[in-house]
Amino acid sequence: MKTNFLFYIFTISTFVSVHSKLLHFDWVVSISSNALIGDPKEVIMINNQFPGPLLNTTTNDVVIVNVYNNLTEPFLMTWNGVQLRRNSWQDGVEGTNCPIMPGKNWTYKFQMKDQIGSFFYFPSLFFQKAAGGYGPIRINNVETVPLPFTRPDYEYDILIGDWYFDEYKDLRISLEDGCKMPFPDAILINGMRSDQATFEFQPGATYRLRISNVGLKTTLNFKIQDHEMLLVETEGAYTLKKYHQSLDIHVGQSYSVLVTAKNHSYNSSYHMVASSRFIPRKLSGLAIIRYPSFDVEPLVAVYPDEPSQDEYRFSLQQALSIRTDLLVGAARRNPQGSYVYGSINISRTLILQNGEAALDGQNRYTVNGVSFLHPRTPLKLADYFQLSDVFEPGFVPASPVDDVPRLGISVIDAYYHDFVHIVFQNPSDSLQTWHSDGYNFFVVGMGRGKWEVEKMETYNMIDAIYRSTIQVYPYSWTAILIKLDNQGMWNLRSQDAEKWYLGQELYIRVKGDVNHPSKISPRDEAPIPANVIKCGKVADS
Ligand SMILES: *[C@@H]1O[C@H](CO)[C@@H](O)[C@H](O)[C@H]1NC(C)=O
Ligand SMILES: *[C@@H]1O[C@H](CO)[C@@H](O)[C@H](O)[C@H]1NC(C)=O
Ligand SMILES: *[C@@H]1O[C@H](CO)[C@@H](O)[C@H](O)[C@H]1NC(C)=O
Ligand SMILES: *[C@@H]1O[C@H](CO)[C@@H](O)[C@H](O)[C@H]1NC(C)=O
Ligand SMILES: *[C@@H]1O[C@H](CO)[C@@H](O)[C@H](O)[C@H]1NC(C)=O
Ligand SMILES: *[C@@H]1O[C@H](CO)[C@@H](O)[C@H](O)[C@H]1NC(C)=O
Repeated sequence: MKTNFLFYIFTISTFVSVHSKLLHFDWVVSISSNALIGDPKEVIMINNQFPGPLLNTTTNDVVIVNVYNNLTEPFLMTWNGVQLRRNSWQDGVEGTNCPIMPGKNWTYKFQMKDQIGSFFYFPSLFFQKAAGGYGPIRINNVETVPLPFTRPDYEYDILIGDWYFDEYKDLRISLEDGCKMPFPDAILINGMRSDQATFEFQPGATYRLRISNVGLKTTLNFKIQDHEMLLVETEGAYTLKKYHQSLDIHVGQSYSVLVTAKNHSYNSSYHMVASSRFIPRKLSGLAIIRYPSFDVEPLVAVYPDEPSQDEYRFSLQQALSIRTDLLVGAARRNPQGSYVYGSINISRTLILQNGEAALDGQNRYTVNGVSFLHPRTPLKLADYFQLSDVFEPGFVPASPVDDVPRLGISVIDAYYHDFVHIVFQNPSDSLQTWHSDGYNFFVVGMGRGKWEVEKMETYNMIDAIYRSTIQVYPYSWTAILIKLDNQGMWNLRSQDAEKWYLGQELYIRVKGDVNHPSKISPRDEAPIPANVIKCGKVADS
């Protein structure tokens, strides 16, 4: 499955040559009928596994994934949090790629350039994520860049997420018919219902748990009975180390925590718990941690605490406590703090406000009044073939307006190297989660109410966390700073599957710099892949 073909890449920052492997994976995507909870339903499997296989990589590795679509529907896989530097051609979302048709294959090829961390992949089309099809991604550090903590003895990938009894096709049809998603029916841990997933702990050993919320829309609070978790990483940035009893993990977010197993215990087993937050329905998914050397009896059940009186306050305070450790390196030896974002001038501000509107008989979700409707030709291909009649940059306003909500194609043009300030404003009572492909960003501020310019004085301009997925609390705002140093057509979306499916997204087209807007250098962006799939208006190009 994995061919280790060694070649060398010279990294400018460290002045050492590092081994960079070429990793080859062959994946078959298929449907299987599985009774994970309730009645059997269609589950998307990768190589007959759910969750799919671990994509285990190291910084700067080149990854080749040949995906064979054995579903009856078109398919695309996207790599949540992997920056795909210079290469939005590999992003696997509707705006960048034509789908892999049933019975066909397509080979992704991308580099884990200058990245470390914990991420996951998932199917991006047709609400297929509601049928699973997801799996974990690790980008390990190269030997020459030390970890900022003692190397853990073992690592586990833990994928937590909400799950529905309904078939994904039925959920999709009901969304298209204008219905809202019901509350979920269960919380899965690594694709299993409560008490099915088991993790062995060796006495005294240290574990790195790489936890991602791969669900559709539910925030989950994660904890381990009687064990503290030391938070060390969020989506590829090392954090100031801090112990937590529990962690709120919003949809699309990933964390690494270190957990030290007990030396001795009278209890043989402990529970890992993921419980729903910010919805009235309280659900929990449980997994078991087993100490093999202790007596097998008894298993003490743990039930999550009663939801705190103010889960918003708890969650907001925790979010504000997550900071970047400026003194350590991540993918490179240089400390993460050597890039002093606080002193860079902001090129422009975008204020993106989520909304909801009835459009064409559907309950659609909007960004600044526009609900995204995909053209048949992916934006990336329309751009490459210079078709001017597929989308109109600037259709979506850069701040909220009072216009009547409408359907459209939202592309925001930005210059390479711009330093953009984005404020996500949430006037609704539901929690929002935003994810940017191609980039991590600095989360400089969060607060209640409506954002105003004065709020900028309260921003964290020193050690804000650097990540790719961020929550916006109800009736609140979140501000980020993003350095546009990755050319391409990049998706900025609601990570909530329902809102994404119904239009809450846009694309940021990053090309040419401010002085040379039309100068496009192959050094700055990967060429169109030789195996590119063509469809829509460029089918015959
Ligand atoms: C992941 O890859 C690294 C580096 O090749 C290797 O040391 C490690 O054992 C692998 N882990 C798993 C779970 O395959
Ligand atoms: C695709 O599915 C069909 C029908 O289930 C099966 O016969 C075939 O072997 C599958 N193809 C691959 C490559 O797994
Ligand atoms: C499909 O897979 C074959 C190898 O099995 C490969 O040669 C070919 O390039 C793949 N097709 C595409 C479009 O990537
Ligand atoms: C386990 O034992 C070692 C050696 O006695 C000690 O240093 C360590 O703190 C203990 N760990 C825990 C989690 O109690
Ligand atoms: C064993 O479980 C009980 C009940 O949860 C708890 O009170 C006790 O502290 C646990 N003991 C150890 C050594 O963890
Ligand atoms: C930021 O803007 C100020 C005022 O326009 C200018 O003097 C300064 O050189 C700029 N700083 C950088 C790093 O570009």
